Amino acid sequence: RPADLYGAERVNSKGWDLHDADDLAEIHAARSPFKAHHWKVGPMIAGDIEGDEGHAVINPADHSDEVGHVTQVSANDVETALSAARPWQADAATRAEALNRAADLYEEHFGEIFAALTREAGKTPMDAIAELREAVDFLRYYAARGLEQKQPARGIMACISPWNFPLAIFSGQIAAALAAGNGVVAKPAEPTAITASIGVRLMLEAGVPATALQLLPGRGSIVGAKITSDPRIKGVCFTGSTATAQTINRAMSEEIAPGAPLIAETGGLNAMIVDSTALPEQAIKDIVASSFQSAGQRCSALRMLYVQEDVADTFLTMLYGAMDELVVGNPWSLTTDTGPVINAGAHKEIGDYIKAARAEGRLLKELATPEGGTFIAPTVLSVDGIADLEKEVFGPVMHVATFKSTELDDVVAAINATGFGLTFGMHSRIDDRIEQVTSQLSVGNMYINRNQIGAIVGSQPFGGEGLSGTGPKAGGPNYVPRFTQSATRVVNG
Ligand code: NAD
Ligand code: ALA
Repeated sequence: RPADLYGAERVNSKGWDLHDADDLAEIHAARSPFKAHHWKVGPMIAGDIEGDEGHAVINPADHSDEVGHVTQVSANDVETALSAARPWQADAATRAEALNRAADLYEEHFGEIFAALTREAGKTPMDAIAELREAVDFLRYYAARGLEQKQPARGIMACISPWNFPLAIFSGQIAAALAAGNGVVAKPAEPTAITASIGVRLMLEAGVPATALQLLPGRGSIVGAKITSDPRIKGVCFTGSTATAQTINRAMSEEIAPGAPLIAETGGLNAMIVDSTALPEQAIKDIVASSFQSAGQRCSALRMLYVQEDVADTFLTMLYGAMDELVVGNPWSLTTDTGPVINAGAHKEIGDYIKAARAEGRLLKELATPEGGTFIAPTVLSVDGIADLEKEVFGPVMHVATFKSTELDDVVAAINATGFGLTFGMHSRIDDRIEQVTSQLSVGNMYINRNQIGAIVGSQPFGGEGLSGTGPKAGGPNYVPRFTQSATRVVNG
């Protein structure tokens, strides 16, 4: 039971335990009916829907599995949705009740959600459970925060989300906006509109009005660009790449009122430092989880490992041994550790990157790649010197550099020099050294002697510095207030 940073009575979702026979039986029974289900989804707007011709969605782990069919919005649909959009006028208690009810519905429908996360987004069982729990926690946490707001809603917010957390981040953005009394037009990422549509279906069923929550599946460069430059939008909540956040920022500054907020959570070039006092078994477990869980498709994932030179040989030998234990393959299997990357585009980009590194003699370790889907096996590359990376490689690719004990300040400088600052990990048993490093870093979430992924809603607010985001941190007390107007009332007498 995590302690809420903000006091209100609330319990995070208990989830399911993959080591518990009863839980396993429950998962099996709940998701089995959706193993071959074919979803047919499209825009969910308060008005007549035109739509486009639609496209098939293919399972990234198994290209013979057609998961469903998605119709995207037409230009007229976007206009219909923006004209119909209204703030949610109900009182805060009614809004909170509906969001809590939506959280209950998410848990009741976990079999369908679990299957969609696995077959559409390639989520392993462990990831699917974590994602569903996070979505439920966001709904309940923001419902509670909404009750505390004294300021009015902003109006209509655009929520634009990435494919790598198609339920949790998607639902979290929407829940925060709704909890404060806004209306939402939500544009899900192109590859994961099915999962998003299940979330919206359940939120509407829970009592959110159709004019307060509309789903606009479509291309970012068309639908996303249109809604983030429409003056009817009073703020944008975005999670995705830094480049897209910069594009939205420019569009908003030209077309939307100057005070409208852009809440942007973006990418990272996340580092971990392991010094010679670290406990190797713990550090290796945490490195493997941070780098290769979710096939490295987490903004928080470890990209750049700095290992102290004195222990590097032994340490890396142990790390490669631990990697050999990973099961890479179809995430429908309950024993899979690392599933596919999201699609052919990502597969080619990451594959080309590894190929170039191999040609430069920088490949240190790679696992065998399964057939039949867009798989990239966990890979470790070396880098020259201690300069940090220049580009986020969004997959199961981790880089390693070694440093001498006299170079710790240079490593810290290299991490800060990237301009990103999302997550950082450190394994050391010297408290003064941990303090020395963490006090100099400009990073939003720092994790000591543990992995650096999977921030817990309500107790580990999540969000980066610099190129990694604008704040406020998701899952923390300052998030929902950003979706309200800041008004000062001065009354004479
Ligand atoms: P992306 O930037 O390509 O897309 C994100 C969303 O923006 C999608 O819905 C997309 O359709 C939309 N979009 C694209 N162009 C747009 C435009 N011109 N105007 C408006 N919307 C537009 O990112 P992605 O590939 O979906 O996600 C991966 C990225 O997200 C990585 O960089 C990752 O680090 C980052 N991410 C950050 C966090 C965080 O909390 N900091 C969490 C998850 C992912
Ligand atoms: N909040 C997610 C994590 O911490 C992105 O991994």
